[in-house]
Amino acid sequence: MGGEEEIEGLREEIGHHNYRYYVLDSPVISDAEYDRLMRRLEELEARSPDLITPDSPTQRVGAKPIEAFGTITHTTPMLSLNNAFSAGEASELDERIKRHLQRGDEIEYVAEPKIDGLAIELIYAHGRFLNGSTRGDGYTGEDVTLNLKTIKSIPMRLLSERFRNIDAVAHTMPERIEVRGEVFIPLEAFEKLNRTRAVDEEPPFANPRNAAAGSLRQLDPRITATRPLDIFCYGVGAVDRTSFTTHYEILEALRGWGFKVNPHIKICRGIAEVIAYHEGMERLRGELPYEVDGIVVKVNSLALQEELGSLTRSPRWAFAYKFVPSQEVTVVKAIEVGVGRTGALTPVAIMEPVKVGGVTIERATLHNQEELERKDVRVGDTVIVQRAGDVIPEVVSVIHERRSGGEKPFAFPSSCPLCNAGVEKVGAIHYCTGGLSCPAQLRETIRHFASKRAMNIEGLGDRHVEQLVDSGIIVDVADIFSLTTEKLLTLERWGEKSALNLLAAIGNSKEPTLQRLIYALGIRQVGEHTARVLANEFGSIETLMGATVERLMEVGEIGPETAESIVDFFREAHNREVLEKLESAGILFPKAPKMTMGGGDLAEKSFLFTGSLNSVKREEAQRLVEERGGLAVSSVSKRVDYVVAGEAYGSKYEKAKKLGLKIIDEEEFRRMLGL
Ligand code: IVH
Repeated sequence: MGGEEEIEGLREEIGHHNYRYYVLDSPVISDAEYDRLMRRLEELEARSPDLITPDSPTQRVGAKPIEAFGTITHTTPMLSLNNAFSAGEASELDERIKRHLQRGDEIEYVAEPKIDGLAIELIYAHGRFLNGSTRGDGYTGEDVTLNLKTIKSIPMRLLSERFRNIDAVAHTMPERIEVRGEVFIPLEAFEKLNRTRAVDEEPPFANPRNAAAGSLRQLDPRITATRPLDIFCYGVGAVDRTSFTTHYEILEALRGWGFKVNPHIKICRGIAEVIAYHEGMERLRGELPYEVDGIVVKVNSLALQEELGSLTRSPRWAFAYKFVPSQEVTVVKAIEVGVGRTGALTPVAIMEPVKVGGVTIERATLHNQEELERKDVRVGDTVIVQRAGDVIPEVVSVIHERRSGGEKPFAFPSSCPLCNAGVEKVGAIHYCTGGLSCPAQLRETIRHFASKRAMNIEGLGDRHVEQLVDSGIIVDVADIFSLTTEKLLTLERWGEKSALNLLAAIGNSKEPTLQRLIYALGIRQVGEHTARVLANEFGSIETLMGATVERLMEVGEIGPETAESIVDFFREAHNREVLEKLESAGILFPKAPKMTMGGGDLAEKSFLFTGSLNSVKREEAQRLVEERGGLAVSSVSKRVDYVVAGEAYGSKYEKAKKLGLKIIDEEEFRRMLGL
């Protein structure tokens, strides 16, 4: 075993399980078993690298970014579609088709959801994925092969007989096929993606389609791999008319070869059935987990398709029948600024209620100050608002022609509308600096403060935090220390025993290390590692409180944004009050001796990490180093003793190499730490 045959067998098997999981959504093995198969394949391929093929499941994510996309010419042009916006217009197009064919009887159509993403083409040669491209101008598109490979619902090989879905029609494997489909991002995944971007201080994507397009057009396939892209295939380029007579048969064949085909596709006899399908889909629209902006109607018979032919831009045998647009016009009555859980300030337009895509809305986001100013939205303006599926409605643009002159520009506040603390700008976003006392951030602040790596108050879980904040018992973090059994017993689900347990845990947390205390404060940009650096450098909260931006930046690892964030935090009177309250509640404000390097077995040794480690997270590795008296640093310099290179390491590795630093791999690092 271990030879080519086993490798091939594993690839087939993994391809099959990918199909079960990502296309059918019904896996037949556990994740652990799947991982085991992948690991075995990786192992065998590592042993015989010459046997690695580009369509191996191990090769889905490329190792490095490309310089630019090449181009691919579509052998059959990728046309766009004529649009109908009402039942009347759809009937007119149906009439035109009948006239052209000189037929009086009803036409058989295939009706499909029109997925709102971007069109792509996938080429398979001898059953293997060869390359893929965007639609481009319809004739030539961009070669996005490496990015398409990261989409797990795209098969790297057509399903072989052995694993073929038993329900599907079996078709012989063609020498070459050009499969067309729509790449998209599901709604839930889209919202999650935007939430992550907000945390990382990156601008949000306007809608799932932009997110999908942006993700597929990344030069670095490793970034694309982190994006939740999916696909529905809806057709082919050139077809071999000897094996198919209808479009529906083609869809069935695609399904059989392992492509993801939308389950709501239906054959409709005559335009009346098409119109009924359209109504049904419009009702279903809100429940679908992806964005659909209409239906696509296609003549089912390939012979009739051929007879109808195409115009330059669109075929005569198909058209799109759109849903009512999810954009509307309304008037802005006021602009308010909301504060999110992370302290981000978001301007919101309060509007005359308006029905958009079947839902009445009266608030729409303006994202941030820059967006607000770019769109120049003023109170009294007539604006276009849009709702993209479940996504928060947003103001798209101002209708300038409707301005009367009395509209009032909005001045972005310089303090938090909820707690009055100052605001600081990070990237495009303004944040409230009242971290310890801002009501909008309270739950998050307390959750963080009590968390394991911070004050480590066992038993103060998310549900309890919510309950304590909602009941008003806790108004800031210091209130945790004035909790009593009586107070807790006024709440639902608390008994004497659980109350005493929590109070004991709170009592135990009163002597944190300086690093933990600094980290617990939740200062923006100050993670565990920075907290440790600050504790080492300043030795006490008082000294840290007195530090200026310049002084903070003298510390090697503190950049200007972090320095400002720290100064802003302590400048905020409310935050200082809460600190005083903490001290009088009996929290020991520890004094750490300056420079605690020394002691442990890694004393005086500095480590730099690049790339990702398999067995531990980077923060964890840094913590381990520091626990043993070493220092974890983040910039390359001659003073670095060890560079730990994980997988897919970055430019730091190159720099380290140039400087002749000692580079070790994960295994050696683990050995040094005795792990
Ligand atoms: S068929 C000639 N089917 O809509 C046939 N297109 O304006 C052209 N789309 O570029 C495409 N779902 O990006 C077809 N089920 C579907 C579709 C679909 C979405 C997109 C596709 C195309 C655009 C047409």
